[in-house]
Amino acid sequence: MLLSIESSCDDSSIAITDIKSKKIFFHKKISQEIDHSHYGGVVPELAARLHAETLPKILIEALNSYSDSLSAIAVTTHPGLAVTLNEGVIMAKALALSKKIPLISVNHLKGHIYSLFIENEVIFPITVLLVSGGHTQVIEVHTHDDMKIVMSTSDDSFGESFDKVAKMMSLGYPGGPIVERYAAVGDKSKIKFPIPLHNSNKLEFSYSGLKNAVKLEIDKYTFLEENSIADICASFQYSAIEHLVHKIRQYFKFTNKKPKNFAVVGGASANLQLRQSIDALLKPYGVNPMYAQLQYCSDNAVMIGRCAIEDYKLNKFTDIHNINIQTKSLEFL
Ligand code: KG4
Ligand code: ZN
Repeated sequence: MLLSIESSCDDSSIAITDIKSKKIFFHKKISQEIDHSHYGGVVPELAARLHAETLPKILIEALNSYSDSLSAIAVTTHPGLAVTLNEGVIMAKALALSKKIPLISVNHLKGHIYSLFIENEVIFPITVLLVSGGHTQVIEVHTHDDMKIVMSTSDDSFGESFDKVAKMMSLGYPGGPIVERYAAVGDKSKIKFPIPLHNSNKLEFSYSGLKNAVKLEIDKYTFLEENSIADICASFQYSAIEHLVHKIRQYFKFTNKKPKNFAVVGGASANLQLRQSIDALLKPYGVNPMYAQLQYCSDNAVMIGRCAIEDYKLNKFTDIHNINIQTKSLEFL
């Protein structure tokens, strides 16, 4: 069994997975969304304090049943918030030391890719669109150790733009699901927001211009009624998704690459409108769309454990004295 820990942002999560069968024997996640919602975003010090409270509680439950069956400990070490990553890493080090078992350091973004293969064998090569709170990237995944970022955002990320739009209208945090709910009852043709980089051949993403356009629209109102909020959300979501679709279409066209499988992962991949638009984009190319199960789209320790199983098979362990956290990941490993 492998015990995995995730604490890179505002979710405390621990999982226990059988290394051979990849079956999940334990998984618990405690989200801090309500705690941060007053602030319209994650407050790192508060997040770290909450991880320090909740991770040990989850660990006690996990160890109750599987303490003697553990063969390795895996933990997210990068990228993420330094103070919250530290909470998980301290726990992982103590566990690995006391049980005299190896430690595996996991890249959170790589973990999101493995959310596609929970309890399954991997299907590589695959091209992946990662849309989360901190990242918007297209990654060409060849093998476990050969993943190349081919497109990324030059400013805000896709999920972050939903969070910021929700914050502008005081709708709460995280903004993604809230904006999606409003968008479902709004009219997307009411406001013509720009589709970022629409007339550019640059293979990159950008969300700050769209965010500013939404801000200018909101500033026109002295009071926002529910139906105006819904129309703003629907019009914003339309442009945000169209931008992704347009840039991925350009990627296929300019690079002449037609992957067999194209996946969307990360917290924002739970957006059903996004899934429908990606399905429609891929259909004429004959490319197979792939998504993680909804419960594994947002941050969780199961995907971290699934990724770490591949490291375990390759004997890729981390020296307990040299395990380092990184707030950014400079490369994809
Ligand atoms: O992957 P994740 O749980 O955490 C990071 O690694 O960042 O992603 C969280 C992000 C937040 O920005 C959240 O607003 C966004 O994913 N998100 C969504 C939806 N659900 C979550 N964005 C758009 N539509 C959604 N339904
Ligand atoms: Zn994430």
